[in-house]
Amino acid sequence: MAEDLTITEGSKEERYQALLPQIKALIEGEPDTIANLANISAALKEQFNWLWIGFYLVKNNELVLGPFQGPVACTRIKKGRGVCGTAWEKAATLVVPDVEKFPGHIACSSLSRSEIVLPVIHNEEVVAVLDVDSVLLNDFDDTDKKYLEEIISWIAISV
Ligand code: SME
Repeated sequence: MAEDLTITEGSKEERYQALLPQIKALIEGEPDTIANLANISAALKEQFNWLWIGFYLVKNNELVLGPFQGPVACTRIKKGRGVCGTAWEKAATLVVPDVEKFPGHIACSSLSRSEIVLPVIHNEEVVAVLDVDSVLLNDFDDTDKKYLEEIISWIAISV
């Protein structure tokens, strides 16, 4: 396919509905996980322009920074630490409406106000997390959870 993304205006739901097939087309048939994680991050950044979008990969029992879009970020996060390490430990999506109220939140950027972190699960184990940060308070809800979970369900991890 041509590597151009069509950016959509409209409700959050409409923007996800236009974006999802484009992401699917981008990663379909490409077996390289890093390439796919990079394009997923870029496509989400282009459509939603959130502060930070990216992946941390589980390596030697730590989360290690993977492909992302946005400001430089901390490179390693331990299990149970911050929002990312907690989502990993619980193997559950975490929506944090106000990061200052999340005990142990790791502030990679002082501009971040709200956050969603989703575990990428393969063979019943968390192998990565998708982390999205916004400069707005309370920017993430069940719509983001639903569509971002669908996107990460397409990732075949082989790193
Ligand atoms: N805020 C995250 C750390 C990663 S950065 O936001 C990119 C956390 O608390 O785990």
